[in-house]
Amino acid sequence: MKSDLLKRFKKVCPQVLGRYFEDFGIKSGSGCYVYGTDDKTYLDLSSGIATCVTGHCHPEVVDAASEQVNKLIHICIGVALYEPYVKLAEEIRKIVPIRNAQSFLCQSGSEAVEAAVKLAKYATRRPGVIAFKGGFHGRTLGALSLTTSKMKYRDGYEPLLQNSFIAPYDIKVVEGIIKANKGKIGAAIIEPMQGEGG
Ligand SMILES: Cc1ncc(COP(=O)(O)O)c(C=O)c1O
Repeated sequence: MKSDLLKRFKKVCPQVLGRYFEDFGIKSGSGCYVYGTDDKTYLDLSSGIATCVTGHCHPEVVDAASEQVNKLIHICIGVALYEPYVKLAEEIRKIVPIRNAQSFLCQSGSEAVEAAVKLAKYATRRPGVIAFKGGFHGRTLGALSLTTSKMKYRDGYEPLLQNSFIAPYDIKVVEGIIKANKGKIGAAIIEPMQGEGG
């Protein structure tokens, strides 16, 4: 029997996105556990698909987020400078293994992939991007052009972005694509540890 939550969901939300667990609701989380609408406790082995690596609702994260929303909820960085944005970029620069790293902060993985692809195209003036078989890079149109973890994501949306090449993890094939598209490949995108497709 369908839960009341699933019935409500089906009434007001689009059905385009599948779920691993069709009728399983979560009420809250704490540390490595999530608490289900069935009143059971579950060990969350995925850490909110790796976005909650400090565990759910870590007190320091909750305090920092509360402090921020008490101060300012949003200011578009396209409108004005905001010090915490700069501070985060400074902190990122301290830990990433890239000299003089610069950060462009995004709201989602797909948006970050779109930004990276745009940067590569703009900087190299080359349109081609190579991605690898089984990779998941997101559901927006550009990111989807590079995603092959599940082909059903692409059903009904093709043709996608031109000059997107999907290669197996085989250097010879990659070299072949670069050679066949002489001077046209500007970037390659790799999901080194595949989630969905791995
Ligand atoms: C490797 C990778 N790239 C991109 C994305 C897309 O991120 P989002 O769902 O936040 O758009 C994901 C999301 O799971 C991901 O795992």
